[in-house]
Amino acid sequence: MDISFGSPTAFGRGAWVVGIHEGGAFTEWAGKADSAAGGAVKRALAVSRFKGQVGHTLELLAPSGVKASRIVLAGLGKAETFDAAAAERLAATIVGRLLAVGEESLTFAVDCPAKAKIAPPELAAHLAFGALLRSYRFDHYRKVSDDEKQSLKTVVIATPDTGAAKKIWNEVSAVAEGVFIARDLVNEPANVLYPDEFARRTTALKKLGVKVDIFGVPEMRKLGMNALLGVGQGSAHDSRMVVMQWNGAGRSSGGKGKNGPLAFIGKGVCFDSGGLSMKPANSMMGMKGDMGGAAAVVGLMHALAKRKARVNAIGLIGLVENMPDGKAQRPNDIVKTMSGQTIEILNTDAEGRLVLADVLWYAQSRFKPRFMVDLATLTGAILVALGAEHAGLFSNNDELSERLTKAGSLEGEPVWRLPLGDAYDRLVKSKIADMKNIGGSSAGSITAAQILQRFVNRVPWAHLDIAGVAWQDGEQKPLAPSWGTGWGVRVLNRLVAEYYE
Ligand code: BES
Ligand code: MN
Ligand code: ZN
Repeated sequence: MDISFGSPTAFGRGAWVVGIHEGGAFTEWAGKADSAAGGAVKRALAVSRFKGQVGHTLELLAPSGVKASRIVLAGLGKAETFDAAAAERLAATIVGRLLAVGEESLTFAVDCPAKAKIAPPELAAHLAFGALLRSYRFDHYRKVSDDEKQSLKTVVIATPDTGAAKKIWNEVSAVAEGVFIARDLVNEPANVLYPDEFARRTTALKKLGVKVDIFGVPEMRKLGMNALLGVGQGSAHDSRMVVMQWNGAGRSSGGKGKNGPLAFIGKGVCFDSGGLSMKPANSMMGMKGDMGGAAAVVGLMHALAKRKARVNAIGLIGLVENMPDGKAQRPNDIVKTMSGQTIEILNTDAEGRLVLADVLWYAQSRFKPRFMVDLATLTGAILVALGAEHAGLFSNNDELSERLTKAGSLEGEPVWRLPLGDAYDRLVKSKIADMKNIGGSSAGSITAAQILQRFVNRVPWAHLDIAGVAWQDGEQKPLAPSWGTGWGVRVLNRLVAEYYE
């Protein structure tokens, strides 16, 4: 979809979207539309329940007197609450309706309400952001039939200051690209996207100036990453770790304290069959998406590099496939992690924590980061607790937690903090090793996080359990119209932009 900014003065061809304030008051463009259409807008409002409520729309087909094929009235709600998120949802809702109805072009002529929490150039950029995010489609595998083919090709955003809007768009569209990359990776099936192929795809980041290093099995064996390697040992596909470095703040990314880089770590289980503790058929559905954390990290690195963020950030992803096999890891095996701590495997399906244990340890020991944030589709229990509305947040640091919480709610990727503590930590004690890889039957998301915490070496750290939000089987979110949501790119980009640049 082609998106541009312009300053049209009259209604041209295609669909046009104009704003209506709550209560039915006209914006400037709505007034123009009404007079161009000989009062059709007023008449439509008079006979409709639509009164400009936020999220509501009313569509007028080709009123005589205007060149446009349709005029869509979009509710702006109350001006005082109209913000970037409202603009994104508005654009997404309308693009969703007009994407495949035969319309080829769409112009947003949405005046910025005077009292809105947003300025006109930002409004324009966020309308564009919402439109673009809604237009995403994963259709590489639709080779013969496509009854949902999109007709909409161009979107124009009318705005008084196109230069200012384009400047913001440069930043925002970099984030949208990152979200699309994450969605593509999550949507890709596991017969195509196995660890080596995933690693290969990250090398596209090199074009943006990101340093990409791929670690194979021998290198990881040398580092002592036996917990990660144990997960992948039953797969026909070898494991990988990818380290991506973006040095946007200049100077070296090493060092301590304030100068250290930010580290983002992702669980990249390309397929999670459960291993020998195999999942039942229905639970295995969707497990091609068990690399959603790693996908978000790659998308984030793209966004940061593309918009040339003034920050030093490292992305680290552990890529494995968890499969049952003659060589697979067994229940009761004991592995020695890179940190030296040992883990007794009681359930081979609790594999994400094993992957992260080694990648977290590697990240802090090599980079001395200012903080680490990991993303992982870690536990089914987080779905039970929070559903698809919030990701679970676990952290040893209140400041980082607050920042993530703020960033998440601003970006429509909300997180909810859950507790950690010694009493929970005791639940993963093993009789024979330093820990076991599962707790009991309760507090499953917390005991998983307790295991991770044992590998962060007291570095400020936050863990996002995204098992409920990385993909969606039910109702689709307006801004995320595909199975893979790309969750995490936006909240982390905002975290960086708001507090660390
Ligand atoms: N990848 C799963 C978690 C998951 C479940 C993600 C459902 C998305 C939807 C993870 O590796 C897993 O299997 N966790 C187990 C842990 C258990 C064996 C302690 C779980 O949640 O059942
Ligand atoms: Mn599992
Ligand atoms: Zn898993």
